Amino acid sequence: MTNNKQQATILAIDQGTSSTRAILFSETLEVLAIQQKKLQLYYPHKGWVEQNPETIWQDTLEVCKQVLADKVATVAAIGITNQRETTILWERNTGKPIYPAIVWQDRRTAIDCERLKTAGNEAMVTARTGLLFDPYFSATKLAWLLDNVADARARAERGELAFGTVDSYLLWQLTGGKVHATDVTNAARTLLFNIVEQKWDAELLALFNIPDAVLPIVLDNAAEFGKTDTSLFGREIQIGGMAGDQHAALIGQRCFRPGMVKSTYGTGCFALMNIGATFRASQHRLLTTPAYRLNGRTTYAIEGSIFIAGAAIQWLRDALGFFQEAAASEALALSVPDNNEVYFIPAFIGLGAPHWRPDARGIISGLSGETTKAHIVRAALEAQAYQTLDLMTAIEADGQHQADVIRIDGGLTANQFMCQFLADMLNKPIEVPQTTEATALGAAILAGLTAGVFASLEATERYWQRDKIYSPIMPKAERERLYTGWKTALQSLISI
Ligand code: G3P
Repeated sequence: MTNNKQQATILAIDQGTSSTRAILFSETLEVLAIQQKKLQLYYPHKGWVEQNPETIWQDTLEVCKQVLADKVATVAAIGITNQRETTILWERNTGKPIYPAIVWQDRRTAIDCERLKTAGNEAMVTARTGLLFDPYFSATKLAWLLDNVADARARAERGELAFGTVDSYLLWQLTGGKVHATDVTNAARTLLFNIVEQKWDAELLALFNIPDAVLPIVLDNAAEFGKTDTSLFGREIQIGGMAGDQHAALIGQRCFRPGMVKSTYGTGCFALMNIGATFRASQHRLLTTPAYRLNGRTTYAIEGSIFIAGAAIQWLRDALGFFQEAAASEALALSVPDNNEVYFIPAFIGLGAPHWRPDARGIISGLSGETTKAHIVRAALEAQAYQTLDLMTAIEADGQHQADVIRIDGGLTANQFMCQFLADMLNKPIEVPQTTEATALGAAILAGLTAGVFASLEATERYWQRDKIYSPIMPKAERERLYTGWKTALQSLISI
């Protein structure tokens, strides 16, 4: 596996919305080293959200080189995991993007989605993709690029341009332009990939007016994606795993059995329940998505997507200057006995599941003369739990399973107030693993499968260790009173 006597390692690239990380794991999935770079978002117009793809690539390369240092020889394989749906179109002959990356949060195509919905195509699209019409997904973003960047459509039809989500773009760069591929979980977020038949869908391509010449090939999550160009790390390294970040986190949290749920609190919050090998369209306006596909066999998940989670705390820090470090939000929230009837709905880019209202915007309700900064911070943290409860109610109804316990991860799980409030609102135990880098772990597991470090997904279960468990302690009446307050605030937002 490696050419020296040191233990094999696995490198995970975790390219998220707010940062790019490289994490080196041991064969027993311990974190050996970690490097990270913050990533800038640009808001060129109201509702538009962009990033610089070349920065994404350069940052990725930089953190990988830093984390590898003298360990390059030990790396058995690389796994890539990424912010999903973010859309990039680049030139095949130079690898240069023809426009900034249109980030998943971007709302510029809301009107196109509304038009498609009105035309009555949504049921057909949901039956094939598990998704709904929302600007969140890649198809309308890609169509926008083809229609608005000079010459793009003609060049795409001539086969000069390549489309990809961030995984695919990074793979292209890592392999020196040799491989144009994606994995099934990322393909599934485009609205163009039929997750029942497991192929790009000609009717969907026609519906969104996308030429198939731009599309990557679609592989299993653990597969031989290609080898890194020797100029990058001094040797070729196999890229053996790839998955969208939320799917990777489901794997990292070892939710391999139907009914198991993970919820990740990063920029947004995404809860996925494993529903097993049979596709089932949601009856509650959630998404169905491949959890992972291995050896051609798909395991599905029901997903609830909340667009703003940690981003609300970042906003309190950066836009309102409430504190210097996000960690200070915990002490502030605990400095007041309750929310004083303040509710904060962080719908900065519309509401995701189960409401799907791209036009909605955030509100803070219940403000009075007594309201302090601490109440608003507390309300922002409480919102994570109320939003998760909205999702879990729908997920359990859809998934036909009760989640006995929920495994959580992501940056916000360091906030103990948030975790306890989550357990109280859901009225379920919440487990936090020792390694909260679940997303990167999932990518490492996939890469390790291809490299033969692990014999099966299940073989990695024994390395999952619980760090903390939060048990519900809030009296029922209190829980119901608080949640009723949230629903009232939400109703006032939805009816605007
Ligand atoms: O679907 C968007 C999601 O993949 C973004 O994840 O971790 O960057 O919030 P994150």
